Amino acid sequence: MDARTHPGPRRIALMNQKGGVGKTTTTVNIAAAIAELGAPVLLVDLDPQAHASLHLGVDDASEATSVYDILLDPAEIFEAPIEVKPNLWLLRSETDLAAAETELSQEADRYARLREALEAVEDRFKFVLLDCPPSLGLLTLNGLNAAREVLIPMQAQFLALQGVGKLLETVQLVSQQLNPELRVAGIVLCMFDGQTTHAQEVVADLETYLESQRETETPWRDAKLYQPPIRRNIKLAECPSFGQTIFEYAPWAPGAADYRRIAEALLAEHGGSIGERSADDEHKYTPAGAVDDATGDQTPEATDDSGESVEAADRSPEPDAQPRPADADRASDDAAPRDDDRQGHEDEVPTPQIRVMPAEHAARESDAERGA
Ligand SMILES: Nc1ncnc2c1ncn2[C@@H]1O[C@H](COP(=O)(O)OP(=O)(O)O)[C@@H](O)[C@H]1O
Ligand SMILES: [Mg+2]
Repeated sequence: MDARTHPGPRRIALMNQKGGVGKTTTTVNIAAAIAELGAPVLLVDLDPQAHASLHLGVDDASEATSVYDILLDPAEIFEAPIEVKPNLWLLRSETDLAAAETELSQEADRYARLREALEAVEDRFKFVLLDCPPSLGLLTLNGLNAAREVLIPMQAQFLALQGVGKLLETVQLVSQQLNPELRVAGIVLCMFDGQTTHAQEVVADLETYLESQRETETPWRDAKLYQPPIRRNIKLAECPSFGQTIFEYAPWAPGAADYRRIAEALLAEHGGSIGERSADDEHKYTPAGAVDDATGDQTPEATDDSGESVEAADRSPEPDAQPRPADADRASDDAAPRDDDRQGHEDEVPTPQIRVMPAEHAARESDAERGA
């Protein structure tokens, strides 16, 4: 069955092993947009850095049951989600979550615990969005096992394209070894500078690649490039420090318009559509078959305000973790690809079999890197 029209909620993991690409910003703001449009959403913060929780104004001082508690005992899920805004529920993270990897290392069901918990409460929601950490350890594997779909936030850069090849390979390994129903829903381009030829070329490459996969048996055969790309917008970088989503902090900003349109696309695919927006924001999510009168919604052609640099924010301290298919090949029910974030064995990463990036772009890009 197509995960997009599955009768249960859509369970979507937002995943990219690279840090600083826009995963958390995308998870939080898509979740907030869907909630505003009237569909109940659960956001699961799987990153021990707890950025999504902080973005929604929930910090380590919170006494609410966290993902860490759930991984230790899935039965704790029932009271765990916190309603942070109308229709928007959070399963918060906490710094202790980093210890889960070691604490659960001997448990046979350690990759299935989040799934077990979420299945017990999923009837309450139309969407479950999982914000994954930038690594492929126990936490991300729990996320990919609990999800039916993967949404890949990425930047329109040639090196990022190569990363997507590795990421797809990872999804395939997980679908073979842990979660056969896992599919790639698509890609959301973040921090997009549409003016540059570079970005336009990346979009063209991605579209060509995705089209070339339609007849394959891969988990990404139906993957699409979600529209619109999310423009680089300083308001999106500012709002987390106020514990607000873009819809509270700057609802008129391009970032709000872009995320709202992606949320509408996701809702429409789910077999539901969105009624007309009004000041009275009560349950506008309407069931399948209703007329979608929201698609005519005009998105303001606001220009990007990238005049203000977010460079510092983009410079992520996290290394670009690479999956190691060699490890994953060895993985059986009780073993899975290891997070080698901390090991940085670049030379051990085999050439990805899924080549997304044309070779001449790769050469140009790595020359530029060496020159820098
Ligand atoms: N469209 C955007 N425009 C400007 N800054 C952005 C945009 N999207 C994300 N950012 C900023 O980029 C940084 C990395 O984004 P984040 O969502 O935290 O990435 P990840 O979760 O992948 O590490 C954050 O400081 C965030 O505020
Ligand atoms: Mg993040």
